[in-house]
Amino acid sequence: MGSCMVLTVFLALSIAAVAAAHRKLLVFLIDGFRFDYLDDKELESLPGFKNIVSMGVKVDYMTPDFPSLSYPNYYTLMTGRHCEVHQMIGNYMWDPTTNVSFDIGVNKESLLPLWWNGSEPLWVTMVKEKKNVFMYYWPGCEVEILGIRPSYCREYFSVPTDKNFADAISDALESLRNGSTEMAAVYYERIDVEGHHYGPASVQRKNALKEVDKALSNMIEQIKVRDKILSKSNRNNSSVGLRFSVLYFIASRNGIYTGLDFGVR
Ligand SMILES: *[C@@H]1O[C@H](CO)[C@@H](O)[C@H](O)[C@H]1NC(C)=O
Ligand SMILES: *[C@@H]1O[C@H](CO)[C@@H](O)[C@H](O)[C@H]1NC(C)=O
Ligand SMILES: *[C@@H]1O[C@H](CO)[C@@H](O)[C@H](O)[C@H]1NC(C)=O
Ligand SMILES: *[C@@H]1O[C@H](CO)[C@@H](O)[C@H](O)[C@H]1NC(C)=O
Ligand SMILES: *[C@@H]1O[C@H](CO)[C@@H](O)[C@H](O)[C@H]1NC(C)=O
Repeated sequence: MGSCMVLTVFLALSIAAVAAAHRKLLVFLIDGFRFDYLDDKELESLPGFKNIVSMGVKVDYMTPDFPSLSYPNYYTLMTGRHCEVHQMIGNYMWDPTTNVSFDIGVNKESLLPLWWNGSEPLWVTMVKEKKNVFMYYWPGCEVEILGIRPSYCREYFSVPTDKNFADAISDALESLRNGSTEMAAVYYERIDVEGHHYGPASVQRKNALKEVDKALSNMIEQIKVRDKILSKSNRNNSSVGLRFSVLYFIASRNGIYTGLDFGVR
């Protein structure tokens, strides 16, 4: 998981129109996605993103929370709190009381509630409100936070493949459609991994972005096809399809390598 990141940037795209309040939510977290990977010029060769942007909103950048590292910012996104409040303050942490370490989510002790229950993430709030949340490879979804787990968690491992990502999107769409969940959240890591290993300008990093774009194109296509079938059987009810009943949110974080972050160990 994006080890050595300093600058974090969020991108938000949403297919937002009216009456969003009752909508279901599909969230993507795309790691290591530098803001300029999706500038106006790049967008021209990314039909999936382009399609989504044309239906919603794209921001040029978002200011990261401090420190602008992976876990602190994943958790700021989901808790709506600054790091000093939610206390997920690094990718590497050590707790003096219990003498255990948090090693960027990969060691068993990273999954202890003590790192996570400083604030309530959105998925816990929703489960408390009796709404289901399905999460796919989302860091920490297997953790019991404030006594609560999401309704479904497909656990993160290093590193989920493009096929895993595509399957996660299909399953998420189906679960939103068949009413088993109100929110689905999918994490994608490979852009970050390739950016670290080969550099932001590398072919490998660009190919990973193309895979995400392809998955988004497929998603839009799946939604169109299924909604068409639905609208035939439900001619006078436009709210049954996913196109207009789901809010899509794509968040990202930047990956600029400036040095090691091993914090206190
Ligand atoms: C803290 O944990 C480390 C590593 O597991 C261990 O070597 C050390 O003895 C522990 N310290 C105390 C005070 O328990
Ligand atoms: C959070 O977890 C820690 C460690 O398990 C525990 O001591 C603390 O009481 C928990 N806080 C809440 C609010 O549940
Ligand atoms: C809804 O779809 C999901 C994903 O395909 C599946 O796991 C689940 O069993 C389905 N639930 C119902 C009630 O059809
Ligand atoms: C569609 O409209 C007809 C006639 O008003 C109505 O009987 C039917 O229940 C409606 N179907 C849906 C799914 O809204
Ligand atoms: C339209 O479909 C939605 C979702 O199935 C349902 O909740 C709503 O009551 C329907 N509205 C009408 C007018 O049939």
